[in-house]
Amino acid sequence: MDIPSTLLLLGLVTALLILLRWRNKPNNLPPGPTALPLVGNILTMDNRAPFKTFLKWSKTYGPVMTAYLGPQRVLVLVGYDTVKEALVDNADDFVGRAPVPFAFRILKGYGLVISNGERWRQLRRFSLTTLRDFGMGRKRMESWIQEESRHLQEIINKTNASPFDPMFNLSRAVSNIICALVFGQRFSYEDSQFLRLLQIISSVLQFGSSSWGQLYNVFPWLIERLPGKHLNVIDQVEEVKAFSRRKVQEHKDSLDPDNPRDFIDCFLIRLNEEKDNPNTEFHFDNLIATLFNLFLAGTETTSTTIRYALMLLIKHPEIQTRMQKEIDAVIGRERSPSMEDRKSLPFTDAVIHEVQRYVDLVPLNVPHYATHPIKFRGYTIPKGTIILPLLHSVLRDEEHWEKPWTFNPKHFLDTDGNFKKNPAFMPFSAGKRSCVGESLARMELFIFLVSLLQHFTFTTPGGPESLDITPEISGFANLPRKYQLIATPR
Ligand code: HEM
Repeated sequence: MDIPSTLLLLGLVTALLILLRWRNKPNNLPPGPTALPLVGNILTMDNRAPFKTFLKWSKTYGPVMTAYLGPQRVLVLVGYDTVKEALVDNADDFVGRAPVPFAFRILKGYGLVISNGERWRQLRRFSLTTLRDFGMGRKRMESWIQEESRHLQEIINKTNASPFDPMFNLSRAVSNIICALVFGQRFSYEDSQFLRLLQIISSVLQFGSSSWGQLYNVFPWLIERLPGKHLNVIDQVEEVKAFSRRKVQEHKDSLDPDNPRDFIDCFLIRLNEEKDNPNTEFHFDNLIATLFNLFLAGTETTSTTIRYALMLLIKHPEIQTRMQKEIDAVIGRERSPSMEDRKSLPFTDAVIHEVQRYVDLVPLNVPHYATHPIKFRGYTIPKGTIILPLLHSVLRDEEHWEKPWTFNPKHFLDTDGNFKKNPAFMPFSAGKRSCVGESLARMELFIFLVSLLQHFTFTTPGGPESLDITPEISGFANLPRKYQLIATPR
């Protein structure tokens, strides 16, 4: 076919697709930018930080918008009032989870994070109760984190105040807490297998936030077929699953049903109780996938936040010094910090909250989904629509934060220097689907950061000006750039 005929044919196909989309377009959708057939709005989006584009569009189309990621319809919710009205006031309608292609590909729809309906209800209730029984948010957990802080302090001491990349030391410490809850053991920092697993889950988050990962989620059938190593991470996930399977087998071999030791034991006991129920959700596929969920969510989120926190404290040395003074006055340098101390450390508490607000770790949220048609603010959202309750827009909402774009612990302090809550502090999302690990994460952030500041002052070789605090990747997660940390003993 010659060039003019090819162009004519392409033009006709495009016109036909536009017509079909227009005819099939459901009535009463929220407004949004005009979408092209097949690609939707992706050509006009900032693929390095899609949430920025959504925020810009909302200035034209309002806080409830329709956009298209490829052929997939997406409802975007912007600002605290809108996100809260959806996730909290209409919690049952907005509880669904989107079948994100990458997550679906690696976990096949099993496990807590990606499931819906009865599977999700059962796994969520079981996980919350079991994590709580094993000390999440309690004294027992507190003492594990205190002990792990001592191990972290030891390994950092060995750096002798020379520069190092803090990434894996922090993730080893944080991960050991979830490993204790889930696998019933902590790993030595020298354990090469443990480090390999941590490298893999870090790559999973990096892939999910990269342009490749985002393209995979829009056009999975296409990206699957492209040659190259961009999907290596999928094979690596199998290593983590194989490790979990070995741990489950070890637990089975030594299980005492009257004395469950950890999450795996509790799951195995329940699996056994329900073995004659053909519809049970307590089976191996859900166990392995939920272990993966907890291992990944329980490691990368908190350790990335601590890594970012140290970077911000280097950038603002006056804030670091003020925290150290407050900690010295209330706890001293000998005793381990406990959650009881938090109310006597309002400045430190405010800084940790501001770190989470400013870092904005999961800007798009984990995508939700309309599992049935939803009526919201006079619109009808069709079943099958992906829903993005933008946490970025809540944590930067100009109506709720005095200086949303600045790192400013005063956002959480009243005029007398007391800690002040703000309802728009929503890094863990809100409603029925909100983060299962919130109380664990908050305890970890507080105890790890306070003990680090008790023992070290943090700097970087090039000084504060050399640090670029803008994220390196801003897709699913805002990930900080690599930097060299100097920890000088106090
Ligand atoms: C700074 C730390 C953390 C942040 C910022 C964070 C943030 C989030 C967010 C935004 C969601 C999605 C909520 C939604 O869909 O509306 C989520 C879900 C989840 N988080 Fe976290 N998280 C953190 C730590 C943890 C930890 C330590 C665990 C481990 C226990 C954990 C386990 C989970 C799980 C299992 C879900 C899925 C819940 C569901 O689908 O029902 N997270 N988290």
